[in-house]
Amino acid sequence: MTARGELAVAGEFPFTWADFRTLAALVQDEAGIVLPDSKANLVYSRLSKRVREKGLSRFSDYCGLVAESSEERQVLIAAMTTNVTRFFREAHHFDHLAQAVLPKLIETARKGGRVRIWSSACSSGEEPYSIALTLLNAMPDAASHDVLVLASDIDPNMAAAGKAALYPAARLADIPRHLQGRNIEDHGAQFRFSETVRTLVRFRQVNLLKDWPMRGGFDVIFCRNVMIYFDPATQDAIWGRFAGLLPIGGHLYIGHSERISSSQFSLVAQTAYRRTT
Ligand SMILES: C[S@@+](CC[C@H](N)C(=O)[O-])C[C@H]1O[C@@H](n2cnc3c(N)ncnc32)[C@H](O)[C@@H]1O
Repeated sequence: MTARGELAVAGEFPFTWADFRTLAALVQDEAGIVLPDSKANLVYSRLSKRVREKGLSRFSDYCGLVAESSEERQVLIAAMTTNVTRFFREAHHFDHLAQAVLPKLIETARKGGRVRIWSSACSSGEEPYSIALTLLNAMPDAASHDVLVLASDIDPNMAAAGKAALYPAARLADIPRHLQGRNIEDHGAQFRFSETVRTLVRFRQVNLLKDWPMRGGFDVIFCRNVMIYFDPATQDAIWGRFAGLLPIGGHLYIGHSERISSSQFSLVAQTAYRRTT
């Protein structure tokens, strides 16, 4: 066991185990993200720039700042989240969506019904746009029906990046060629999704641990590569809340290293679940 006053990391700014525990507790309370002691170096390296920017000389002063400022807590959470993502990551989910899930949802939409898909930890938008491209491929007129992809993330900067819909041209390599064409606008070193694609996706900031402001349920939920950062009790609570938003037969896609313990879901394909009870 480490002594609270002992340095967790030796560096420009004193960073004790007490500072680490204060910040780790705050990140877990606010965002659900568990930071074991092995992450002390990561916390130091991600936050020392901020300590400098704020003109502080030690991490204990930074702990004081986050205790009194909700804005700074948001900066802290954004610094501690991992936003790694890419278009069509875990491509088997989009194949499953296209083949096993969308045909029925498209039928519903064509009869005037409502179709909602939630990308619940969307990072900078690659996941929800991959969903929208898959949808448009199967239903080119989706935007003129009651069909929407809700994209949300705890980090407002991520939601803003997704809304801007501008990505480096090199990332086009991750998007199957037949889904590019009219869906992509050339902006030199960048590309932007067309208005049709953008209209299908709505971005907002939502913390999975707090109240969810959306009204109405979802037909499909993507919650990929975020639960790994949460403890088992938090994961179970969120799986249960997802079940409450999905109809029987609704689908849930999770990350490659994640598992669902809830008896309300059955595995129907690789890391793809269906609500059964
Ligand atoms: C590794 S990315 C996953 C992005 C995408 N789902 C994928 O699989 O490529 C994890 C995302 O979860 C978000 N996140 C972390 N804690 C969250 C929380 N409590 N509520 C909502 N989003 C959260 C992070 O901001 C980050 O953008």
